Amino acid sequence: MINVAIIGVGTVGQSVAKILKENKTLISARAGEEINVVKGVVKDLSKKRDISIPLTTNIDEVLNDDSIDIIVELMGGIDEPYRVIKAALTNKKAVVTANKALLAYHRYDLQEIAKNIPIGYEASVAGGIPIINALKVGLSANQILSIKGIMNGTCNYMLTKMMNENVSFNDILKEAQELGYAEADPTFDVGGFDAAHKLLILASIAYGIDAKPEDILIEGIEDINEHDMDFAKEFGYCIKLLAIAKKSKNNIELRVHPVLIKESQMIAKIDGVMNGISVIGDFVGESLYYGAGAGGDATASAVVSDIVEIVRAGQSSPMLGFKKPHQSQILKLLPVDEIESKYYLRMKVVDKPGVLANIASILAAWDISIETILQREAKEKNKAMLLFSIHTCKERQIKSAIKDIEAQETLNSKISMIRIED
Ligand code: NAP
Ligand code: HSE
Repeated sequence: MINVAIIGVGTVGQSVAKILKENKTLISARAGEEINVVKGVVKDLSKKRDISIPLTTNIDEVLNDDSIDIIVELMGGIDEPYRVIKAALTNKKAVVTANKALLAYHRYDLQEIAKNIPIGYEASVAGGIPIINALKVGLSANQILSIKGIMNGTCNYMLTKMMNENVSFNDILKEAQELGYAEADPTFDVGGFDAAHKLLILASIAYGIDAKPEDILIEGIEDINEHDMDFAKEFGYCIKLLAIAKKSKNNIELRVHPVLIKESQMIAKIDGVMNGISVIGDFVGESLYYGAGAGGDATASAVVSDIVEIVRAGQSSPMLGFKKPHQSQILKLLPVDEIESKYYLRMKVVDKPGVLANIASILAAWDISIETILQREAKEKNKAMLLFSIHTCKERQIKSAIKDIEAQETLNSKISMIRIED
C-alpha cells in the first residue's frame, strides 16, 4: 500500500483526491499497489471542500511522517514549496508537483538534490497534456528543432472570448478565475510569465538549457484591444499568446508574447482553455499535442499519472531527461535584440499632411520595410489610427524605430506592437 499526502487541497488538490478515490481500482491495477490519500495540508481548516480526507495545517507533520511515501505539492508559490520539496526529498519521499513557477527557478537544484528519488512534474506544463513525457521519452531520439505552443489556458480563454464576443478584459479574467484556470496572482497568466515558466521547463528537457524567466523575452496580453482584434479579422489573422523555443546552429531562441497568426494555421484553431503544442524533431518531423491546459480535473489527471508511474517504475530516468552532459547544453541563448520577426504596429496620430511620410521615413532609417498600412478614423476629432504590418527585421531595429516614432509630437499614444508568426 502506498500512502500519499497532498500539500495544498485547492482546485487541483481536491481533484487529485477525487480521481484517486473514483478510479481507485483501475489505478491500483495499473500501479500494482493500492494508493491512499492519508492526509491533506491546507491553510484554512474551516473552508468548505468537495472531498473528505483528514486535513491538517501543519506541513512538517506530513514531511516527518515515515508512513507517507509520496508528497504531492499543490500549494503554489516558490519559496515555501521549495523548502517543502527539499525536505521531502531529504526524507527520501518521492515528490509530485504541478508548480511551474518553482521549477522555472529551481528545476536544476531539485534534480541535483533528488538524485534517484523520483520527482514527477507532468502537470506543470499544459495541464492534462502529457507533453513532458512526450518530450522526455517519446521524442528522445530527436534533436528538437522547435517547440511552439499555446501554454496558458487563461490567456487563450480570454483571447478567444475577446475575438468572438464584445466583453471587457476584466470581466473575462474574472470568469477564468471563477473557472479555476488562473493562477493565485493572475498577472502571472496575463503577463505571459506562466507560459514562460512552462517554456523554460520544456527547453530544459529539449536542450538542457538552464535559463531563468529574467533571461528571456516575455510579453503579456494586457495591451491588446478591439483595434488589434479588428485588424486581425480584416487580414485573416487571430491573436494568440505563443511560447516559442527555436534552435539555430549555435543558439536557442526562447520567447513568449502575443502573436498574429493566420486563421488557417492549426494552432489558430485552438480555442478557449485548450492548449496546443507543436514540436518539430529532426527525424520525426512535426507532432502536435492538444488538450485542456488548465482546470482542476485535467491538471489532476497529469498529477495522478505521475503518482502511478512512480509507484510502478520509480525514477526510471533523470528528472530533466539528460543522464550525461551534451553539447546542446552549451548552446547560447540568443540575445533578445537579435530575435527576428515580422511585426504589427498600432498608433494614434494627429491627422494632418506629412505625418505618415514622417513615420515611413523613420522606419526606413532603421532599414525597416513596410508590408501594409491601414488608416482608421480615431474617436477623437483630427486624430487617426494607423495600423502597419512590417516585414521581418530584428527586435533592436523595431524597438529603436518605435522609440523614435514615439518621440514625435504628432503621436498621440504609446505604440502597440504585436509580432506576426506566419
Ligand atoms: P489553489 O486552488 O489556490 O489551492 C492552493 C491550496 O494550497 C489551497 O488548499 C491552500 O489552502 C493551500 N495552501 C497554500 N499555501 C499554503 C500553506 N502555506 N500551507 C498550507 N496550505 C497552503 O491553487 P491550485 O489552482 O490548485 O494550484 C495549485 C498548484 O498547481 C499551483 O502551483 C499552480 O500553479 C499549479 N497548477 C494549477 C493549475 C490550475 O488549472 N488550477 C494547472 C496547472 C498547475 P486553503 O485551501 O486553506 O486556502
Ligand atoms: N493558470 C494556468 C493556465 C494553469 O491558465 O494555463 C495551468 O497551468
